[in-house]
Amino acid sequence: MATNRTFTMLKPDSVEKGYIGAILEKINAAGFRIVAMKMTHMTNADAKAFYAVHSERPFYGELVEYMTRGPVVAAILEKDNAVEDFRALIGATNPADAAEGTIRKLYAASMGENAVHGSDSDENAQIEGFFHFSGREQF
Ligand code: CMP
Repeated sequence: MATNRTFTMLKPDSVEKGYIGAILEKINAAGFRIVAMKMTHMTNADAKAFYAVHSERPFYGELVEYMTRGPVVAAILEKDNAVEDFRALIGATNPADAAEGTIRKLYAASMGENAVHGSDSDENAQIEGFFHFSGREQF
């Protein structure tokens, strides 16, 4: 499997609760290289654009409010099979369904406030990475 990349955000609930260090430790221990990383506070327009794919969903307004209520830690991560392996590391969208030891099982409160984002495809990983980082930052 070729080395490739995924995109993540430690969402506002993770930052508020002081889980940044613990989650980054899990990411490092799972063998991901941090290619780019920053703390950033998305505007309303940023979150609406980032989650545009969900704009018709009933939870869209709630999702935008949640993702803009405080800073997130955005990062691009590199590893063999990055997208799939990172989704396994974070666990199911709903923490109630997430496997033991996954980041969402350990740190997420609910389906809506689920601690961490992980790209769902190589294509989206690239789009999402460029949403937050310039080409110069992705070495
Ligand atoms: P994520 O999969 O990272 O990206 C879409 C987000 O929408 C998801 O995490 C949750 O934070 C949120 N979400 C998904 N489904 C629901 C739902 N049924 N109710 C509320 N929020 C949701």
